[in-house]
Amino acid sequence: MLHLLTIIGARPQIIKAAAISRAIRNRFADQVQETILHTGQHYDENMSGSFFSELGIPQPDVNLHVGSGSHGVQTSKMIEGIEQELMGQGTSAVPYDGIILYGDTNSTLAGAVAAGKIHVPIFHIEAGLRSHNMAMPEEQNRIVCDHLSSILFAPTHTAVDNLQKEGIVDSPRHFRNGKGQRVVQSGDVMYDNSMYFAEMAEQKSDILQRLNLAKGQFVLATIHRPQNTDSEVNLSNIFRALADIADHEQTKIVVPLHPRTRKLLPEKLSPELLTRIQQNANIVLTEPAGFFDIICLEKFASIVMTDSGGVQKEAFFFGTPCVILRPETEWVEIVEAGAGILTDADYDKIMEAYGTLKNLQVTFPPLFGNAHASEQIIQAIIDYLR
Ligand code: UD1
Ligand code: UDP
Repeated sequence: MLHLLTIIGARPQIIKAAAISRAIRNRFADQVQETILHTGQHYDENMSGSFFSELGIPQPDVNLHVGSGSHGVQTSKMIEGIEQELMGQGTSAVPYDGIILYGDTNSTLAGAVAAGKIHVPIFHIEAGLRSHNMAMPEEQNRIVCDHLSSILFAPTHTAVDNLQKEGIVDSPRHFRNGKGQRVVQSGDVMYDNSMYFAEMAEQKSDILQRLNLAKGQFVLATIHRPQNTDSEVNLSNIFRALADIADHEQTKIVVPLHPRTRKLLPEKLSPELLTRIQQNANIVLTEPAGFFDIICLEKFASIVMTDSGGVQKEAFFFGTPCVILRPETEWVEIVEAGAGILTDADYDKIMEAYGTLKNLQVTFPPLFGNAHASEQIIQAIIDYLR
């Protein structure tokens, strides 16, 4: 039996882990034992706890409860806790054969640093993504993690190309176990999840009725990137655009607020703009949505406006065009397909992109695999370790 440690911490990682956990339970339970370590990076019920029951993920075996903090404080506490677990000083005395890491958060970086130094093979899911914007903490995290990984599970062809440009290809380099480094184009575990849960979400979610939304006649917006939330100019430009769209188009705009954004709105927006947003009957500011609710919102919105990586992609899975509130994206295929337009936090570009996408027939080619990436990933890990 192989023993794998899965690291989760931030909301999108919990969601991605659901797909892999499901594959292990359903297909590989006789070959793989999974221990789940939650770093505690996200801790509010609606940013973490609720996803376990909704997506059927086993409760974490370990929670480090690191909470919020500066990058250094947060990451160092995580490294210490993960290292302890890997060295047999945590909850499990059974040695680990490898560690599974998702995406590009501080929890990902901590897992990579802790495991890499003590030669535990790293399996990185969502490898090879690049924004080519080194100012983003996520870009730093993913580059470090990729270079330390034993198998890099790249969701797209572009991700494989990005790795190749950095010299990461199937090779015997680096690793003490002599097994080298491998790159596997696996498809996207988020696509697995979206397809698996789509029907269930429609049956279980009542968000459209609760918020009085008509299918195809509302906009979904999510904003949480520091480059937007921490800048008065950017956050104001985005919310001014939302208010103008809500007023001119007489369309409802649902904004499930990430806690970072909720905290910063009163600090960064002028009192006039804040009041205009709060008192606008067409702008619905809500708590972070549950997974079934957000899937329904993404699927039935006329347009999604977001700076989130995951929401951008899920909009594409469900055939909804997307205004991408960033200067660049890791998911370049979405822009190339014409299903997303990059606007940064530029008021004019946001208004123009909204107008363009509203009137455009957009196509959504199948770019993210066959909805069985998770099984392929676990099989590749087993083959590598045996
Ligand atoms: C993190 C990831 C980002 C990812 C996002 C997903 C890093 C560097 N960033 O950003 O890549 O896109 O998660 O959502 O790892 N907070 C709460 N309750 C919570 C969690 C956070 O109130 O449960 C607040 C705290 O004030 C905290 C702030 O949100 O300081 C930011 O949280 P943090 O985890 O540091 O970064 P995110 O912006 O969530
Ligand atoms: N998500 C959610 N509720 C919300 C907003 C997002 O469940 O209110 C889900 C979304 O469906 C996707 C994931 O969270 O699966 C994306 O995470 P987030 O936007 O926090 O981070 P990113 O993907 O940008 O790292």
